[in-house]
Amino acid sequence: MPVIEPDKIPADLLPVIEALCATGIDVAATIARGPLGQSLGAGVGENTGGDQQKALDVMADEAFEKALGPAGVKYYASEEQESVLTLGGEKFALAIDPLDGSSNIDVNVSIGTIFSVFPAGAGPEESFLRPASEQIAAGYIIFGPQCGLVVTFGSGTLMYVLDPADTCFKLVETGLSIPASAKEYAINAGYRRHWPDYVRSYVEQAEAGKDGPRGKDFGFRWVASLVAETHRILSRGGVFLYTGDARPAYARGRLRMVYEVAPMAFLVEQAGGKATNGKDPILSLSATELHQKIPFVFGAAEEVDHVAGLHG
Ligand code: AHG
Ligand code: MN
Ligand code: MN
Ligand code: MN
Repeated sequence: MPVIEPDKIPADLLPVIEALCATGIDVAATIARGPLGQSLGAGVGENTGGDQQKALDVMADEAFEKALGPAGVKYYASEEQESVLTLGGEKFALAIDPLDGSSNIDVNVSIGTIFSVFPAGAGPEESFLRPASEQIAAGYIIFGPQCGLVVTFGSGTLMYVLDPADTCFKLVETGLSIPASAKEYAINAGYRRHWPDYVRSYVEQAEAGKDGPRGKDFGFRWVASLVAETHRILSRGGVFLYTGDARPAYARGRLRMVYEVAPMAFLVEQAGGKATNGKDPILSLSATELHQKIPFVFGAAEEVDHVAGLHG
């Protein structure tokens, strides 16, 4: 029984996508049992970026690492590994956030796995420290009320849902499209006192509603799982901001270029949205370090442009 309907997936990448799906099915089963199994949210260590690692972060990382070498992955870059691992494959360099939304593990809120694929380059680091526009595939698995896969190979987007009846990811939508205008924004408003002026202005204008300079009312959302925010924006629109702020540890925000921002930017642009660091398109930029953070503003084109105008 296949783990995904293969028809729309490029043949050379099919083994990689199948390995991601097969592992995703196992991770989804572990998540679904939650506290009936082992303690998924227990703290077990700290990663290179300074995040506390939860048990599920490490379990997911180990499972994906094991599955991807035989599927053709040569270089494996993970949030949970200090440096790039060389696996048994030959063709691909794959970056992964094995478990996105760690703070939501124990609260039964959507979490996910984010991945980005390049052709394997001259060496481990060089394979990832290159323009985001050189990605050949990117996407995420979402572990939510439904388990789903959203992926791009550079010609639009594909959305699959895992059918629990036969544990196969089935295609439900092609060509996702983010409307250019939006009335919903996402930001961690708990950090308001640290925000730079352009972010403060953006939010104040939105909060002013239809009597303010934007002339419309906005709703506000924050899940604290990038995968879930991206899924909502791909499904019904909106804009997301996680920029730099005044705290030294947040000078470039919280999200990491290689395995969070670049893959989501690829998906968003393939769905007609925009993805920037507040100014420049993410896809025109390269990381200079594996775990480098970067300010991230993405979603509805008009909103992203408006933020860029305020940024100046
Ligand atoms: P991760 O769990 O992979 O470290 O990523 C967490 C990220 C992302 O999912 C989310 O957008 C953001 O952290 C939430 O940040 P706050 O805790 O500042 O809200
Ligand atoms: Mn983390
Ligand atoms: Mn993450
Ligand atoms: Mn993570």
